Amino acid sequence: MRRKLAAGNWKMNGSHVALREIEALAEGCSDPGCDVLICPPAVLIPDAALLARDSRIEVGAQDCHAAQSGAHTGDLSAGMLAEAGVRYVIVGHSERRADHAETSVLVAAKAQAAQAAGLVPIICVGETLAERETGRAEEVVVAQMLESLPEPVGADIVVAYEPIWAIGTGAVATPGDIGAMHAALRAALMARSPDGAQIRLLYGGSVKPDNAEAVFAVENVDGALVGGASLTAANFGPIIAALGRA
Ligand code: PGA
Repeated sequence: MRRKLAAGNWKMNGSHVALREIEALAEGCSDPGCDVLICPPAVLIPDAALLARDSRIEVGAQDCHAAQSGAHTGDLSAGMLAEAGVRYVIVGHSERRADHAETSVLVAAKAQAAQAAGLVPIICVGETLAERETGRAEEVVVAQMLESLPEPVGADIVVAYEPIWAIGTGAVATPGDIGAMHAALRAALMARSPDGAQIRLLYGGSVKPDNAEAVFAVENVDGALVGGASLTAANFGPIIAALGRA
């Protein structure tokens, strides 16, 4: 049984005041029926972890470095994040692939570093609109995922499918397209690892309270990676509730 996961990615949003949203969320989801994760900006992690300590909410990071330590100004290692109270770390988000020229080989190294520090990596993959329009989306995304996986590929990794054209745009992939992509990713994971059937597959890209139920009804969708709608308890709460019912 794959336990469902509602993961919120705050990106570079939220100040100290936003931590109140975690408190509100914790009050609202004492028995969510799924795993709940918030990935705030790194400077908020220690306080977020403290606030979430006695709740069902877990705290994650948005990135980590592939090395354990060393001369990498401005970066954070997976071990440091674990020490700060993090359980999960997002790696290879399309914004990092684009803004920081991160390759799938680097993403795999980051995922591996996360695993070595006892964290669950959330490995993000997704196609551009141009790639979808050529009809090669599944081929492109499966190849990107296989290149981005750590070694070994155990059950304790998460893969998030996020079509780049759907992130922050209000455009959501159709249930048919999500189902086809998740089936292709599942088949590739099962071919790659004996634990492939246990790996959780999230959908991400403009998931909101009003479309969450339709997304979660799709086969092989084990939860969501949510950006904009995770910033407030008022929006993320209903998404978590929809996942808990799914
Ligand atoms: P969005 O972001 O929900 O704002 O589209 C999703 C993501 O980038 O993880």
